[in-house]
Amino acid sequence: TQRTLVLLKPDTVRRGLIGELISRIERKAGWSIVALEMRTLDQDTLEQHYGEHKGRPFYEPLVEFMASGPVVALVVEGERVIEGVRALAGPTDPIAAAPGSIRGDFGTVVRENLIHASDSEESAIRELKIFFPGLS
Ligand code: GTP
Ligand code: MG
Repeated sequence: TQRTLVLLKPDTVRRGLIGELISRIERKAGWSIVALEMRTLDQDTLEQHYGEHKGRPFYEPLVEFMASGPVVALVVEGERVIEGVRALAGPTDPIAAAPGSIRGDFGTVVRENLIHASDSEESAIRELKIFFPGLS
């Protein structure tokens, strides 16, 4: 079984969509939430998390947005959960995301795209260490 890091971004928290998004994840057969925490991310954490994008034009506004309010971080475990949560989320640009996906149903702006989910096993391992270092 796999584990993935999910972040419900500040727009999700501000819009009162935490329950809706968690519910979509929870309903998938055999998946479970094994850790969950609400917190406001500091610059250091965001630099570690989004370091691959440093230098790109969207990096600074992305980090500013991600620090603009609390996020909900969760660890989800289950069968093919890395690929699966990415599929539930939909593509990065919410306008390109199909209705039925989280971004397709609730988003319009690329930066405010509601949810982060690890994009590979490697990313999942790296990101889980940043957000939940004590998790065994
Ligand atoms: P995350 O789950 O947040 O990592 O999204 P992603 O994996 O779908 O996209 P990616 O890792 O490539 O980019 C991280 C975040 O940067 C995205 O979720 C967007 O909010 C933002 N972003 C990425 N590409 C662009 C872009 O071309 N323009 C803008 N404005 N924002 C972007
Ligand atoms: Mg990404």
